[in-house]
This record gives sequence, C-alpha cells and structure tokens, in this order.
Amino acid sequence: MKEIERFILHFAHEFDKLLIKLLPKNQYSSKLYNAMKYSINVGGKRLRPLFLIEIAKIFKVKKNMALRAAAAIELIHCYSLVHDDLPAMDDDDMRRGHMTCHKKFDDATAILVGDAFQSLAFEILSDKRTHPNPEVRCLLINELSQASGALGMVGGQMLDLVAEKKKLSLQEILVLQKLKTGELFRFSCIAGPILSEEKNLKNFDEFAHNLGLAFQIKDDLLDIEGDEKKMGKKLNKDASRGKSTLISFFGKENAKKKSNDLINNSKKILRPYGKQAKRIIDLTNFVITRNN
Ligand code: IPE
Ligand code: IPE
Ligand code: MG
Ligand code: MG
Ligand code: MG
Repeated sequence: MKEIERFILHFAHEFDKLLIKLLPKNQYSSKLYNAMKYSINVGGKRLRPLFLIEIAKIFKVKKNMALRAAAAIELIHCYSLVHDDLPAMDDDDMRRGHMTCHKKFDDATAILVGDAFQSLAFEILSDKRTHPNPEVRCLLINELSQASGALGMVGGQMLDLVAEKKKLSLQEILVLQKLKTGELFRFSCIAGPILSEEKNLKNFDEFAHNLGLAFQIKDDLLDIEGDEKKMGKKLNKDASRGKSTLISFFGKENAKKKSNDLINNSKKILRPYGKQAKRIIDLTNFVITRNN
C-alpha cells in the first residue's frame, strides 16, 4: 500500500470517531440515531474533509476549526449518498461495502437520516467553536448552502436523473458534473482560506474546479472498469441506465486523458505553495489513481 493510501485510511479512522461524537445524543428516536450512526460507521474515504484540512494547514487555521468545517462537508456528502441510493433515485443496495441505509432500515428512515445530516452540518458551522467571528461562520454557511442546494449538489442530482432519459451535450454534462460533485469539492477547497479570513479565494476555487471534474470522471470510469468488491458498491450502473457521462461522450481513453489534464492543471495551481502543498499534491494524484 502506498504511503498516501495509508495516510488516508488512518485519517478516516480518526475522523470517523469525531463524526460519531458530533451526532446529537439522547435523541428521542433511537432508530434515527442508530441509522445515522450506521451510515457513518460504514466508512468512506473522507476525501472532502482531507482536502479541507490539508488546505487549511497552508492558511494556518486551528486544527479544531478545520475539523469542524470538515465534518460539515462530510455530513452533506453522506446525506447526498444516502438519498442517492434510494429507490426513487439510483436504487442501490450496497454502499461502502455494506447495505445501503434504506436497505438496512427503511426508505423513510433513510430520507430522515439525510435530512438530519444536513441540519447537523449547518448546526456545526453556526457554532462559535467553528470560528469566533460570526461573519466567517455566516460566509461558511452561505457557501455550503449554495454548494449543496439547487445551484449545487441537489441541482446536479436533478440533472443527473434527466441524463438517464436524454442525451446531453458536452456543455450540459460539464454543468451536471460541476453541480453534482464539483460544488461540494469547491467548499472543501475554499473553507480553509475562509477560516483564515483570506479574501482571495481564486486559486483554490480554480483548483477545486479541476479537481471536482477529475474526481467525477474517475467515479464514472470506475463504474465501468472498477472492482465491485474494492468499490463497495454496484458497478456498471451508468451504462445500464443509458446515462450521459463524459465517458459516454468522449469514450474511455479520451476521458482518462481529460482527467489527467485536469489533475495536472490542479497541481500547477499548487506550485506557488511549494513544499507546504506536498500532501495536497499526493491527494490530488490519488483522485485519479485510486481504485475505490
Ligand atoms: C462517491 O463519492 C459519489 C460521488 C460524488 C462520485 P466518494 O467516492 O467520495 O464516496 P465515499 O465517501 O468514499 O464513499
Ligand atoms: C452521486 O453520484 C453524487 C451525489 C450523491 C451528489 P453517483 O450516483 O455517480 O455516485 P455513486 O456512483 O452512486 O457513488
Ligand atoms: Mg446518482
Ligand atoms: Mg449513485
Ligand atoms: Mg457513480
């Protein structure tokens, strides 16, 4: 196993403990609590939190603050996956090597788990422990709302469902992917600078734009040529549903080339940060070399 893979696994193990700690205890419904806990404990690579935390280090953000913003983005991501797997959406039985939330519990519980994760993400950001300056907290909340709403992840998920029924143009596919995946990555990449009260977000905005698209191309490639066991989810779903993706548009080889170019662009943006960006570069490479 490569050093970066060990690093990611170790981080995920530690970070999951924090996520569990952040779940509201003494809930009135143990069923909801157990389903939330289950959906965290099945794991995940935790890449969005890692990018957030590693970029925040460059901006000298206090670890505890970065961890809280990282928890918020991961909770939104987990909510998006619990809903994505529902019968009304992708109708998947397996996620992260375990039964999907609605299979383990039921559809209504899975909907509520997603809803509760979403609320919790914003509760965490609005708490003083995330940042003493209320303007910073408000900006984080504003950015995460946009990234996850109708002009972000949710909007992208809507377009993604349309993409099963209609052949999309290249431009439409790029918009779909930017919304469905890119915007949450964007939050991960700009939260560190925001926490340090840096006003110029341009570099990490552009970094995220390239990274997010490369990430989704790799997810789509893995859907075609990945190992189901390593991925922990059912594969060949996009083609079987006739979904328009960059691969259906360009073909596999061109899509791989495109994702390589995007990753190279991302790394170029990191150059001015020198050695400080070493870990981020490793993570950036991992986005397209990963096999899960
Ligand atoms: C899968 O995301 C869904 C997409 C946005 C493509 P990840 O590959 O980050 O999933 P986990 O969190 O590691 O399970
Ligand atoms: C999911 O995309 C993206 C979001 C949940 C926002 P996919 O439907 O391609 O993800 P997988 O392949 O089920 O993980
Ligand atoms: Mg989907
Ligand atoms: Mg899916
Ligand atoms: Mg997919």
